[in-house]
Amino acid sequence: MLQQEKIVKPVNTGLMGLGTVGGGTFNVLARNAAEITRRVGREIRVTHVAARQYDPDSLSSLEGIRVTDDAFQVVNDPQVEIVIELIGGCEPARELVLQAIANGKHVVTANKALIAKHGNEIFAAAHDKGVMVAFEAAVAGGIPIIKAIREGLAANQIEWIAGIINGTGNFILTEMRDKGRDFADVLKEAQQLGYAEADPTFDVEGIDAAHKLAILASIAFGIPLQFDKVFTEGISRITREDVNYAEELGYRIKHLGITRKVEKGIEMRVHPTLIPERRLIANVDGVMNAVLVQGDAVGPTLYYGAGAGAEPTASAVVADLVDVARVLTVDPENRVPHLAFQADAMTDTTVLGMDDVETAYYLRLQASDQPGVLADITSILGDQQISIEAIIQKEPGEGATDVTIIMLTHRVAERNMNDAIVKIEALGAITNDVIRIRVESLGH
Ligand code: HSE
Repeated sequence: MLQQEKIVKPVNTGLMGLGTVGGGTFNVLARNAAEITRRVGREIRVTHVAARQYDPDSLSSLEGIRVTDDAFQVVNDPQVEIVIELIGGCEPARELVLQAIANGKHVVTANKALIAKHGNEIFAAAHDKGVMVAFEAAVAGGIPIIKAIREGLAANQIEWIAGIINGTGNFILTEMRDKGRDFADVLKEAQQLGYAEADPTFDVEGIDAAHKLAILASIAFGIPLQFDKVFTEGISRITREDVNYAEELGYRIKHLGITRKVEKGIEMRVHPTLIPERRLIANVDGVMNAVLVQGDAVGPTLYYGAGAGAEPTASAVVADLVDVARVLTVDPENRVPHLAFQADAMTDTTVLGMDDVETAYYLRLQASDQPGVLADITSILGDQQISIEAIIQKEPGEGATDVTIIMLTHRVAERNMNDAIVKIEALGAITNDVIRIRVESLGH
């Protein structure tokens, strides 16, 4: 009888942050309360909220909820069993999460920067305390990609993952391509829609995607989180010209996070990438995210959905809450491990530097229209073992003397390409920096 009463008792949660994701989570929990209770077998109740600023008109009723502007009150309140961290940023989120763990509370967070940079410390603390830290919403918004890789694909050796994992960046690239819109103008709209990070350079310079990629690599390969080893290049240098030339060649430019296990180690990289337009992932537009996972047994699987926004992200936060609430009483050793592999079975496989990564390349060169230039360029590429797959030379524009040369190469180590580019740029006839975009076929 006592046992039965314990099981039906509501689970008390403390929600920290009522911004875009916090507000969305609060509203989804209220709107779908009955359905969520049917799923968990217990009510999930928000008993505490910590927020500095919020708009009560955009929220379901706060009646009966203890509201404070001091998040430490939430993590230190003995009544709270699960802390939902939706403040974002590393501090004070890290301190709050560690304090919650020290107090024996479970944590649900959407904070990718926090997990990517401090996850090793946080998971070690959680492991020692026997509490859960769930972070589904940290990667690809509403797509349940953590659950898919950690549980659904647990039979597989993951070979590689390639994902569009920043909604803002994808929205900008799509609007530039489809409507010829200006970069800054689209970014402003993404901010108004609540997609962009507080600091939007995180979106356009690839840092947000690198946070997410570091997490994906860990759960795919059972390695510690190593955000500082992710090669990161954003979309700010992509021009409409390159988007058009890529299309002429049958490619789309997407900003991808890629992690791959090769013989020498593990690649972790985020950069604009040409992908064949016939691939499904090449047609993922707007704020939508998609993650393509190649497993040795299952082959390729593709996960698609909204990568940002209030309720799509709330969908992942609430799913984590449901998961945590369902297994509160399970012996910690029998829960799904935080990073997919048992904590004592993580490996220290080398993460490859970018010099050792092999990809194909798109090159755009600007050259004076004179004899022998192309021969010089191809000879430099040949010396570096770089084989050319396609080459297009554009007529000079009206009154111009320069020609644009577009090349696609076969796969080669980045080290060779870097050396070749330095030598090509030193040619007298080359009038601009060489534009280089990596190319992936994403074939299976
Ligand atoms: N700024 C992020 C994006 C939000 O645009 O994808 C979701 O993590």
